[in-house]
Amino acid sequence: MTRSRATRPEDPRLHVRPPSGWANDPNGPFRWRGRYHLFYQHNPAGPVHENIHWGHASSPDLVGWEHHRVALAPTPGGPDSAGCWSGCVVDDGGTPTAVYTGVDERHEGLGTICLARAADPADQLLLDWEPLPLPVLEGPPDGLDVVMFRDPFVFRHGGRRWALVGAGHADGTPSVLLYDCQDLSDWRFAGVLLDGRHPDARFPATGWECPQLFHAGRGEWVLVLSLWDGDPLRVVWLSGELRPVDGADGPGLTFGPRRSGPLDLGRDCYAPAVLQQEERALLWGWSWEARGQREVDEAGWAGVLTLPREVATHPDGALRSAPAPELVALRAGAPLVVREGATELGPVPLPSAYEVALTARGGPVLAELAGDGAGRSLALRLDPAAGEVVFTRDGWPRQRPGAEADFGPLRIPVPYPGPVSEAGALAVRVWVDGSVIEILAGDGRAMATERIYLRPDDHRALVVRAQSPAASFSARCWELGVPDRG
Ligand code: FRU
Repeated sequence: MTRSRATRPEDPRLHVRPPSGWANDPNGPFRWRGRYHLFYQHNPAGPVHENIHWGHASSPDLVGWEHHRVALAPTPGGPDSAGCWSGCVVDDGGTPTAVYTGVDERHEGLGTICLARAADPADQLLLDWEPLPLPVLEGPPDGLDVVMFRDPFVFRHGGRRWALVGAGHADGTPSVLLYDCQDLSDWRFAGVLLDGRHPDARFPATGWECPQLFHAGRGEWVLVLSLWDGDPLRVVWLSGELRPVDGADGPGLTFGPRRSGPLDLGRDCYAPAVLQQEERALLWGWSWEARGQREVDEAGWAGVLTLPREVATHPDGALRSAPAPELVALRAGAPLVVREGATELGPVPLPSAYEVALTARGGPVLAELAGDGAGRSLALRLDPAAGEVVFTRDGWPRQRPGAEADFGPLRIPVPYPGPVSEAGALAVRVWVDGSVIEILAGDGRAMATERIYLRPDDHRALVVRAQSPAASFSARCWELGVPDRG
């Protein structure tokens, strides 16, 4: 289990991450025979991005995860000899099938589309996978000057099976390409679903990676795009509709955007993957390390997947996202704090994994989560009138390999449909698991993921203060842990 691998307070225990080695994108979230499976880009040999395999974990309930042996490994001399890159998993007539990007030693951003089938579909754990020796698709369509091509995502619409593939073109335009793959071994190019020349899709990127799509009810679809090559790398969502079109070689689809926005307002979440269930959609992102390579090498692992989030839309088309309700099972025992209508609280010592639910009313409220003993604190300031949460972390800069240390605070606007009055309330929920912090603000309108590494001398304690005479707050806090189901 993930929890038994923890060795230091900054190691996440509740999130899926490799026990050692490297992880990036979540891949192919999939439910099979009542069990959730989650795969991820993984180098078992060390905490660097090379020789990518598919790591594998599974869970009965989204709460406790079991690690399995790698699911996919590069095949020497095969189309994935230099890496099994991102993709998805689908039920192909009763056989779980991974549809993924193969790259070989000669690749320069163009992948092939490969399949691997579960060796024993009757096995709930899906431990063994058999790759097909040849790709089902050798590369992008001719004539479109495609220079980046990867990350197949398979979905159903109008009684047919389709796939999206992330792409970038020689003139710098990103796009999502559409295929008809009713027969998974016979792919027909069915046109461009959306590209970066669309007036509502001019995001800074030269390629769109890991396209994901889910239906949000009321005929609405949400497209999720990872903006490759941007600085910083970001993820956007677009809500809208899928419109059938008649192509020269058969039917196709285009995407008509209605609304769009950032998927995660933090600085440490990228390349998410979606699991469409009948009644909901779940999403996991990749949270990279925000510390230097020396610290990463010392830890021996890099990269963690976010908590599973339920994603949907509000009636106005804006994304709604919040950790899955199942995660309340992580609350270990009685709350550490229960306060209503308070103006001051704490210090209450905090463990290394905890959840805080805080609502500010009538004015701003400051919540400190940790201090460094020299007057600096890790803090969230909730301002209901401004509709904003500010996360300050000046004592704990973000450090990305090869980049300058970043001491900047994170501003999280919470866009309510109407103005928020001075008497209004602003609610946040915060999940901390070692070095991962995930912040949910408002009614699912803003989520933010960051990585933060406390030092041994820092103290973890919750201190909350109302910051104006009219302000008050309610607070709840729980220690988190995977329940022992014995
Ligand atoms: C996104 C990504 C994907 C690719 C994978 C390789 O982070 O670049 O486009 O398939 O990572 O690990």
